[in-house]
Amino acid sequence: MTLDFLGTLQRTHMCGDLRSANSGETVTLMGWVNRRRDHGNLIFLDLRDRSGITQVVLDKEVSPEAHAKAEAARPEYVIAVTGILRKRGEGLVNPNMPTGEIELVAHSLLLLNDAKTPPFSPAEDAIANEEVRLTYRYIDLRRAEMQHNFAVRSRVAMAIRNYLVEQGFLEIETPFMTRSTPEGARDYLVPSRVHPGHFYALPQSPQIFKQILMISGFDRYFQIARCFRDEDLRADRQPEFTQIDLEISFPQMSTIFAVAEGFLRAAFSAAGITLSEQPFLQMTYDQAITRYGIDKPDMRLPAIADLSEVLTPELRTTLKIDPTLPVLGFTIPRVGELSGTARKALLSEIRAFFGDSGLDLLDVARLRTNAAFQPLAEAISAKLSTELLLFSNSTLTPEDLAVVITPKPGTPSSWNYDPQWIYKRVGALRLELAKKFADKHKLFEQTKTAADFKFVWVTDFPMYEWNEETKTWDAAHHPFTSPHEEDITSGALVNDKGAVRALAYDIVLNGTELGSGSIRIHRKDVQSEIFRSLGMSDEEAHTRFGFFLDALEYGTPPHGGIALGLDRIVMILAGASSLREVIAFPKTAKAIDLMVDAPTTVSDQQLRELSLRTVTRS
Ligand code: AMO
Repeated sequence: MTLDFLGTLQRTHMCGDLRSANSGETVTLMGWVNRRRDHGNLIFLDLRDRSGITQVVLDKEVSPEAHAKAEAARPEYVIAVTGILRKRGEGLVNPNMPTGEIELVAHSLLLLNDAKTPPFSPAEDAIANEEVRLTYRYIDLRRAEMQHNFAVRSRVAMAIRNYLVEQGFLEIETPFMTRSTPEGARDYLVPSRVHPGHFYALPQSPQIFKQILMISGFDRYFQIARCFRDEDLRADRQPEFTQIDLEISFPQMSTIFAVAEGFLRAAFSAAGITLSEQPFLQMTYDQAITRYGIDKPDMRLPAIADLSEVLTPELRTTLKIDPTLPVLGFTIPRVGELSGTARKALLSEIRAFFGDSGLDLLDVARLRTNAAFQPLAEAISAKLSTELLLFSNSTLTPEDLAVVITPKPGTPSSWNYDPQWIYKRVGALRLELAKKFADKHKLFEQTKTAADFKFVWVTDFPMYEWNEETKTWDAAHHPFTSPHEEDITSGALVNDKGAVRALAYDIVLNGTELGSGSIRIHRKDVQSEIFRSLGMSDEEAHTRFGFFLDALEYGTPPHGGIALGLDRIVMILAGASSLREVIAFPKTAKAIDLMVDAPTTVSDQQLRELSLRTVTRS
């Protein structure tokens, strides 16, 4: 088959743009053959480009030459067609396609390129397995859904950029080849050829640079920044990802919240969703844990209710419930009536979930059937419904599954080092059960309106996290985060690390952490003290961060900022369940790019130039 050259031919329209108002016009379209139907003298080609599909008719009587070429055309061939647009005949209109009222009667066709039969068809709804999709990513990206996701991504990024520029932010790029930044993951390293044995680190975030930009007087910085982290991957983590990163001089926390809420509104609006102008909900870390059992609460589900006070001492004795420990309850909405067998299965699932953790469960329904517990059952129901109202829109209905949890007699050992442990465990069960019932009962069905998106700020995170493995205190956010002023002056920094609160905050959407930030330390003495409190000697602090400690001494303004994951925002807006749906060339869970086949070995010559030698570890 001979292929045609494009010559001077110019495209006049995109395939998705034509409507019946264009009928009678001479049109040239270019794109891919999505589907081909051969009816002998008439061949129909669905021609596809980024904007959509137009049906092209090749009539042997109109142009035998174009018809002959269409006979040779196969799916994914690249063609150009010129012809006259006409309205489709009576009964032939396709109401499911935006271009369903028209078709292009071609009088010439150029076969610009042929295509091997692809491993899967971008025209089909059934999706190939993910490995195949990632290996042939260029074909996968042709699918309408992927084209849509990247159009949303581009619009969202542009809306955020415009918003921030309007708010007086300067976009400033920071280096990729730098030194390690402590964001808690492993670094990707780049060996230096010129300095054998020396390495650059790819930035885990622009954290130190953006703080230095505040010291440099830029006042308001932002960057849509690529970050690199060598960590265990999950559906919402990639080794390279993109942050909307910003920093502000002389801010209050509320200044930063208002900016982030503003650009999120702009981003959502670019995706067709109008969020309310109300400030987002805020709660402290402690409230999040006691109400939701997690620091990233999914506000689409009702909160956990503390039922401890509902239980009289007598009832606690009868039910053998430790008088000092809390009793917690929560509901999963719209589960409906459970059969006896389903209920029993659920009870044993929950008990298995708790294992030997020391938690047990009382179920409300069983209490209801037992006259002695009637007052308790009523009190619990009332309490659950009022508590549920506090942070969510739902009230308790008979459709809801209510679960009541209590510790077994005897204190679980985990209690000793984490008094919030019980809330976390119950919170985990709450999410597990929500997941279990989500699909069947359409718990999280998206209507693509503002009501689907529940934002919440979580503030006052603990400054330190106890690391059971190394028996040390680690920075819960990063070591540049400022503690509350009163926790510095009270001496808690030295004497009671577990109680020190950080001026750190997260923005959470539907149970996903979208972003994190903090008010930073702007004084060298406090920064050095924090490094020390993290077990870092002054020498080590100097070696790792000497340049930064020096910079802090030259007139550093109070400053603070935040970084939000752009990929995560787009993932939620696209209704996708993995970041891979919104990153053009993502890595697999094993950090492999299947399309280009990276990482790879390199030649001995390259290794020699870098003064490197590889060893195989068994
Ligand atoms: P943090 O490490 O919390 O904070 O990151 C901020 C946000 O970046 C996104 N994110 C990721 N997205 C995809 N894949 C990953 N591996 C990944 N890791 C993080 C998340 C997260 O909320 N420098 C600080 C911010 C600051 O203090 O201003 C930082 O990077 O959405």
